[in-house]
Amino acid sequence: MIDDWKDRFSDNIKKFEGYSIGKIFKYLNNPEIISLAGGLPSPDMFQKHEMRLASAKRLNEDIDVIMNYTGVPGEKTLIDAIIGFLKRDNINVTAENIIVTSSGQHGLDLSGRLFINPGDIIMLDRPTFAGAIVAFQMQRPEIIGVDMEDDGPNVAVYKERLEALKKQGKKPKFIYVVPDFQNPTGITTSLKKREALLDLSYEYDVPIIEDSPYRDLRYMGETVPSIYSLDQKRGGGNVIGLYTFSKIFCPGIRVGFNIGPADVIGRMINIKEGNVLNTPKYNQDMCTEFLTEMGLEEHMVKCRKYYSEKLEVFLQTMEKYFPPELGVTWTKPEGGLFLWVTLPEEINTNELFYEAIKFKVAFVPGEVFYGENPATNSMRINFSFASKEQLTEAVKRLAKCVASQVRREE
Ligand SMILES: Cc1ncc(COP(=O)(O)O)c(C=O)c1O
Repeated sequence: MIDDWKDRFSDNIKKFEGYSIGKIFKYLNNPEIISLAGGLPSPDMFQKHEMRLASAKRLNEDIDVIMNYTGVPGEKTLIDAIIGFLKRDNINVTAENIIVTSSGQHGLDLSGRLFINPGDIIMLDRPTFAGAIVAFQMQRPEIIGVDMEDDGPNVAVYKERLEALKKQGKKPKFIYVVPDFQNPTGITTSLKKREALLDLSYEYDVPIIEDSPYRDLRYMGETVPSIYSLDQKRGGGNVIGLYTFSKIFCPGIRVGFNIGPADVIGRMINIKEGNVLNTPKYNQDMCTEFLTEMGLEEHMVKCRKYYSEKLEVFLQTMEKYFPPELGVTWTKPEGGLFLWVTLPEEINTNELFYEAIKFKVAFVPGEVFYGENPATNSMRINFSFASKEQLTEAVKRLAKCVASQVRREE
């Protein structure tokens, strides 16, 4: 019997710990706990009736193909619909620039596999999406993080770091950013900073990976052009875009897409040949129907209204129950599904998580959103899943929990 399995695992996996957020969900089994921890869209926004109709239609029309293997890059009908979807956002691409993925996480995995050798440098924001960190970590990069500010990452520090690396003869493989309503902070990167990031991309010859799951979920303020579209105005070729249907349609269907230069997409297709092969046609067909037959614009209007009301309830309740003397601050996102709460430095949210469970409320401790040198006094809050009543109650419970800890520290 083999009893040394661990010694046989690949170097990439030996030190790999998987998705750290996943580990906290086992504490959330008690139905009395109000969880603000997940990243789940609300089932209230699922187009269930339309989905049933679309499903029956596609199965009736195409069941032989649906039940078979299909092409690796993606269904032509979906790719055509994606081209239209992006055009409305001033992005012009053709089929050779698109690969359909089995969701956003797959898009991240393909990016990590394509670019990173062990020890390669990648740059990303502090904090940033934990799922991206984990996807990239599987290839064992060296991660350089740059702090987020209220209007996006500190671009001056990106420049300093790039300059320092250049002096050492080093070049990062890419810069990864989530410019619209970033997960976890909810922060949107300003136009000025998007242009400045592109300037750096050209000056230091480093591609940008722009991850955009929340772009259509803007509740207030003006849409800011995507970095991809800004790059296209300069001639294009420096940016790879990652998209998913998870937040605007539904996560259960597990479909997304990556866009980029044909050379990049071609190699991502090769990698996909070696991992999931084809994304299920049925799932792709549901996304085609979503984009073309389910009233996309009306649906987005409905989602924006629904989520913005929840965000407002959450923010108003925070104002009421977190008085300034608690020393707690939080972001005020213009869209997306998350916001970021920062506590006094002496409070460690990894420990606070277990206290909060006693108060029957849960969040994600901020540490998991750092690729290096984590801060431990912040938390990610999801406001899309719980009902408005639950959100109000959750804030009250959280305030009591935090107040008990702040007092204890005094
Ligand atoms: C920034 C970001 N990228 C990618 C993903 C992964 O999306 P998916 O659920 O489609 O795999 C998420 C999900 O929360 C996300 O927030």
